[in-house]
Amino acid sequence: MKDNNKICVLGTGYVGLVSGVCFAEMGNLVTCIDRHKDKVEMMRKGKSPIFEPGLSELMKKNIKKERLFFETSLKKGMKGATMVFICVGTPPKKNGEADLSHVKKAAQQIAKNLQKYTQIVIKSTVPVGTSAMTERLIRRHCKAEFDVLFCPEFLREGSAVGDFLKPDRVVIGATDKKIARDLVQVFKELKAPIFVTNRSSSELIKYASNCFLANKISLINEIANVCEYTEADVEEVAHGVGLDKRIGPHFLKAGIGYGGSCFPKDVHALNQYAGAKGYDFKLLKAVIKVNQQQRDNFVKKIEKRLGNLKDKRIAVLGLAFKGNTDDIRESAAIEIIKALTKKGAKIQTYDPEAINRAKEVLDGQVRYFRNPYSAIRNCDLLAITTEWPEFKKLSWRKIKTLLKNPIILDGKNMLDGVKLRKMGFDYQGVGTSNGTK
Ligand code: UGA
Repeated sequence: MKDNNKICVLGTGYVGLVSGVCFAEMGNLVTCIDRHKDKVEMMRKGKSPIFEPGLSELMKKNIKKERLFFETSLKKGMKGATMVFICVGTPPKKNGEADLSHVKKAAQQIAKNLQKYTQIVIKSTVPVGTSAMTERLIRRHCKAEFDVLFCPEFLREGSAVGDFLKPDRVVIGATDKKIARDLVQVFKELKAPIFVTNRSSSELIKYASNCFLANKISLINEIANVCEYTEADVEEVAHGVGLDKRIGPHFLKAGIGYGGSCFPKDVHALNQYAGAKGYDFKLLKAVIKVNQQQRDNFVKKIEKRLGNLKDKRIAVLGLAFKGNTDDIRESAAIEIIKALTKKGAKIQTYDPEAINRAKEVLDGQVRYFRNPYSAIRNCDLLAITTEWPEFKKLSWRKIKTLLKNPIILDGKNMLDGVKLRKMGFDYQGVGTSNGTK
């Protein structure tokens, strides 16, 4: 038990809340700060404002053990804290650049409340140079001693708790290895490799990691597109390629492209950052283009099957940007629905968690259903746009009787195409046109 570590976490989005809860689970005393009173009240009861498997349970457990607290006042949260984590959003500006206004505001607020030596750790994804800029900003506003470190977060939505507690690695950026010692101590029990480097490198490691993964997805999507001209099946190709340890089996799933609050934003941000420095990052531009193309191609495939989409009824299963989350930011599903309704199609949709959020951004001819079968009834085509595990378990016999035409376009290559074709469905995945999937 490390009750001596008093940690304050500023911001309770995915990164902040999961980090705060997991730090408490690791035995630290944690206070999470959010400026919204209602949200704080809700979290104090152990209710998570986001859908994330396992998070509420851990919140309740650590609140009960009196290791996890929620406050609106940063002053209260920082009282006695040896570390303050900045976990605020860095959304994209119109030109793709990361908007650092929340980080700057957090720095100013922290400066106002600094009494004694404190380590300020940035966890938000920020461009190279932001830790140094934050240090200068705080220095301008206060006299107390402090250090600014950077510690990128690599958790994925939908498996955030497991990713935090069992990371592949922990990266810490500090001006000096000695300064990183306390933070190394905090993460030591996770038994993961801890890499301490300078702040600029650590800041770039975060962007480079997300860009690398996005690149992997765009590459396999292009291979999938080539597969469609051949007898090859991208699922088989990805498996064979992924057996090479130098490549690995992960993030080789072809489909309608990556979405979410991270990959699209971070790929754009690094491309913009490089451009502003005078370097043309050609590969990232191609990654972005291919990702958009996958979404457009999916809509074209639907048009190819149904012809003019005016008044065609299309069932879309999945609204979230991926399975096991209610997050719809940059979701391919949402963009595809927008494109289809623009062409006059009527959408019937179901998602286990994301309907309420989708309602805020979609308008036009979209009807929402609380059950997948009702959404599918009387439709001309069924499109799968999110990899929710429950979609695998649907009764396809029943669906065959509900659909007007037995056409399935699987944008996530998640269904058993061989079985569905045997059942008489006209099934098509992405890059799996020859029928082996
Ligand atoms: C991503 C990274 O995986 C995390 O390591 C990182 O911490 C996080 O961004 C972040 O920067 O905060 P996340 O966006 O939650 O995590 O979700 P992913 O599982 O990476 O999926 C992103 C998108 O790529 C989803 O739309 C998913 O459907 C798509 N994807 C993923 C594919 O199309 N193919 C794949 O093989 C894998």
